[in-house]
Amino acid sequence: MHVVKVSLGDRDYDIEIGTSLDQIGARLQGLGFSQKIAFITNPTVKKLYGQRVVDSLKAAGFLVLSIEIPDGEQYKTLDWANAIYSALLINSFDRKSALVALGGGVIGDLTGFAAATFMRGVPFVQVPTTLLAMVDSSVGGKTGVNHAMGKNMIGAFYQPKKVLMDLDVLRSLPQEEFLAGMAEVIKYGVIWDASFFEYLDRKREKILALNPDVLSQIIQRSCEIKAEVVSKDEREGGLRAILNFGHTVGHAIETAENYTMRHGEAVAIGMVYASKLAHNTGLCNASVPERVEKLIKSYGLPTSLSALSRKPPVTELMDTMRIDKKAEGGKVRFVLPKKIGEVVVTGEWEEQQLQELIS
Ligand SMILES: NC(=O)c1ccc[n+]([C@@H]2O[C@H](COP(=O)([O-])OP(=O)(O)OC[C@H]3O[C@@H](n4cnc5c(N)ncnc54)[C@H](O)[C@@H]3O)[C@@H](O)[C@H]2O)c1
Repeated sequence: MHVVKVSLGDRDYDIEIGTSLDQIGARLQGLGFSQKIAFITNPTVKKLYGQRVVDSLKAAGFLVLSIEIPDGEQYKTLDWANAIYSALLINSFDRKSALVALGGGVIGDLTGFAAATFMRGVPFVQVPTTLLAMVDSSVGGKTGVNHAMGKNMIGAFYQPKKVLMDLDVLRSLPQEEFLAGMAEVIKYGVIWDASFFEYLDRKREKILALNPDVLSQIIQRSCEIKAEVVSKDEREGGLRAILNFGHTVGHAIETAENYTMRHGEAVAIGMVYASKLAHNTGLCNASVPERVEKLIKSYGLPTSLSALSRKPPVTELMDTMRIDKKAEGGKVRFVLPKKIGEVVVTGEWEEQQLQELIS
């Protein structure tokens, strides 16, 4: 088992990579939780792994309340957070009762948000079961739900008490979901670590074959990078914004596709356009967008807007980018690579150059 520490003072926590699902109960002992625990998942994941987690929690002496949320992004809402609050209230949960999220980013974000807001905050634990959740959404404390007018519009920064990962669960994950997670893994190479980027190129076959050692390596390195960035800037006052590489165009694509495209796929395309914009802006040489595009493509991920179900008008994409919550006063700040392993967050880019790229 590998442990990555997220250093946030009194909110420090460990990410444990390689803990068996059967050990979850034991890993939660001694954290000061009361006996009642709420176990939150969706039917897909519950069918595969629910019983093992419930058994391990019970074996550790917890009284388990199971809460099931239907499977899908459309259930990451205030209504379903409210369903969680109701179940907790009916069952007399108190401020020391913990919530355990077993699932992908949808379950993790929703459970984290419910934990942040129920009784002004109760402890929660992430047990991510998708690659995207392991390397991204379960780490760093962004929790939230969607609003009819926008994704992740309601939320809170709220850190889990622990993140526990059993990598064997990735074996049942559909290939497209795994690849979508790889987009975020590739992102870490571009924004922070050139040798990791090269490693992803060298180890592609083993990664795609889910080789346990290599998988553990890439998840660990991704978590280390995210933990380091988040430890320096928990609330996105500055540095943390680099994690949004590929997300500005990516978010506009998700909106244009009405959220039918996977987040990681949209980010993959967004990273290619951001890299091209960086080159056209004179920030990097032509090899950067070429290498980014080549690596993304080699993992079977989309690299251009032609992968969309329809060609969105340039104005539509530009308008969405402007109202993105990452824009400041209407000015979109792009994360652009200077080289592989280093990015800048900047408002210094030409609108016309971006329009040409996406038209
Ligand atoms: N909080 C953050 O910092 C952050 C970062 C990135 C993304 N997100 C959010 O994460 C969400 C996307 O997360 P996701 O990609 O994990 O999607 P998801 O949670 O919808 O999971 C994808 C699918 O895989 C299934 N699944 C999960 N684990 C499985 C397993 N082991 N075997 C088989 N099937 C399994 C799920 O039931 C679902 O159908 C979005 O809502 C996005 O906004 C949050």
